[in-house]
Amino acid sequence: MNQVAQLTNTLVDNFGRQVTYVRLSVTDRCDFRCVYCMSESMTFLPKESILSLEEIGRIAQVFSELGVEKIRLTGGEPLVRRDVMQVIDYIGGLGLKDFAMTTNGSQLPRYAKDLKTAGLHRLNISLDSLDAKKFKRITRTGNLQQVLDGIDAAIQAGFKGIKLNAVIMKGRNEDEVLDLVEFARSKKIDISFIEEMPLGVVSDHERGETYCSSDEVRKIITSRYALTANKAKTAGPSRYYSMPDSSINLGFISPHSHNFCGDCNRVRVTVEGRLLLCLGNEHSIDLRPYLRNHPQNNQPLKQAIIDSMAIKPERHHFTNDGDVQVVRMMNMTGG
Ligand code: GTP
Ligand code: 5AD
Ligand code: SF4
Repeated sequence: MNQVAQLTNTLVDNFGRQVTYVRLSVTDRCDFRCVYCMSESMTFLPKESILSLEEIGRIAQVFSELGVEKIRLTGGEPLVRRDVMQVIDYIGGLGLKDFAMTTNGSQLPRYAKDLKTAGLHRLNISLDSLDAKKFKRITRTGNLQQVLDGIDAAIQAGFKGIKLNAVIMKGRNEDEVLDLVEFARSKKIDISFIEEMPLGVVSDHERGETYCSSDEVRKIITSRYALTANKAKTAGPSRYYSMPDSSINLGFISPHSHNFCGDCNRVRVTVEGRLLLCLGNEHSIDLRPYLRNHPQNNQPLKQAIIDSMAIKPERHHFTNDGDVQVVRMMNMTGG
């Protein structure tokens, strides 16, 4: 076992990186079928092979006892899981420094207020286009107006932080970069621009053809606004910039052009209970036996998580030449 971890009951890997951020996927299902994330026809996991909400709560609790300060719920789309509010309530009571969710926004008109009451601090909402037709083309089944209403409902609910996420693709939405910036400025919320990652085979496009680097996106923005790098930190992979006349942060998530594995602080748990040590590798352990063979005792689960630090890989090896290194789709991983 890793000696530092053994001594301090914290999670430190073989490269000296401490894990303080966990992404928990609560479902692989989604009401959208975004072209970079899913195929048009998807088969989802049967109910019996996913973790119960109670098991997800136990995992969150154990991580928080191991020094994890930030938990983000992901999916699929977290808000399509029935009774998800139960586990949000539970995790909201753990006293984390940062409790966040990544969502496509479609269910926020209904849930935003309850999420805030349950103790969620921050929301990241995906928004790749402001044009209803293009939005439909990218999400296949999404309705732009519903998401815009969701964003307004989130702003009204008064979260500590709301950030938009836009995956920018050539020939799809790269012409909307400035519109998205204007939208974020008008709503006074942060926005991150993301380079598409090669997770799973998608039917819609060759990833190399649509690849748009963060440098290209930044260049489009600097044609209108001067950008200065700032020190905003969310313990996530975004690098942030400010504009002279607005308080919002512009983030860039650049897994291709600026690899950020060196200071990786996170792991993820799939809804099947697989603890994935890296987004871009298959190194993982199955948490289910520790949960199910010891329903009343979290110690074996805790020890398994501590031991897993020994197999956390140093880095991912994403390329955009069409070579798929990871066969998992994004909805199985939670981003
Ligand atoms: P903040 O807490 O606001 O910084 O959020 P975040 O950027 O950590 O989370 P979000 O769910 O909004 O993810 C935004 C993008 O970053 C998604 O495309 C994720 O897949 C990607 N991302 C998150 N963590 C990693 C990582 O460890 N490696 C890589 N390559 N991408 C990541
Ligand atoms: N590459 C980059 N980002 C992706 N997302 C989903 N699939 C991909 C991909 N292949 C984004 C979503 C959401 C976040 C969780 O990840 O748009 O904002
Ligand atoms: Fe659903 Fe998010 Fe995947 Fe789009 S990117 S299909 S909203 S999980």
